[in-house]
Amino acid sequence: MNETVKGRWRPSQGDWVFMAVVGVVIVALILGSSERKTKATPDNATHQTATSRAACMACHNTNGVRPQPAGHVKADQCFQCHSQPDSWKKL
Ligand code: HEC
Ligand code: HEC
Repeated sequence: MNETVKGRWRPSQGDWVFMAVVGVVIVALILGSSERKTKATPDNATHQTATSRAACMACHNTNGVRPQPAGHVKADQCFQCHSQPDSWKKL
């Protein structure tokens, strides 16, 4: 250990820039993590008994009672984005 490097560390201008960048990245990740969540699946008898994508899509396809919006993802895992009501979690 070199004695001259001991002493109080003072952030240089570059250190402040680095910390600001780290801070911005952390905030962006926190905001991004909530973006995937959207409207929860309604907590009613209809939605509790539908257990397959086909069942969901019987009502939510373009001709259904409540179509998915235009440009909706073609993904199968509905519950990945449309969270299940808490009371279902034990299923
Ligand atoms: C028998 C028809 C039917 C089936 C099956 C069905 N839904 Fe629905 N869904 C509806 C209707 C009607 C609404 C709007 C009224 C309501 O809130 O119940 C709706 C609303 C929704 C909404 C929007 C909630 C909001 O706040 O606008 C989501 C998300 C949803 N359903 C997801 C699903 C998923 C996922 C499945 C399969 C597990 C599913 N639905 C199965 C009829 C159905
Ligand atoms: C990758 C994430 C994701 C997946 C997976 C997903 N959705 Fe969605 N869904 C969304 C987003 C985002 C919206 C738009 C919400 C808005 O307009 O506020 C949406 C909107 C909807 C709506 C319209 C809600 C309303 O306001 O009337 C319905 C119905 C719906 N989705 C059904 C489904 C069904 C059924 C599945 C499974 C086959 C599914 N979604 C899978 C992200 C997803």
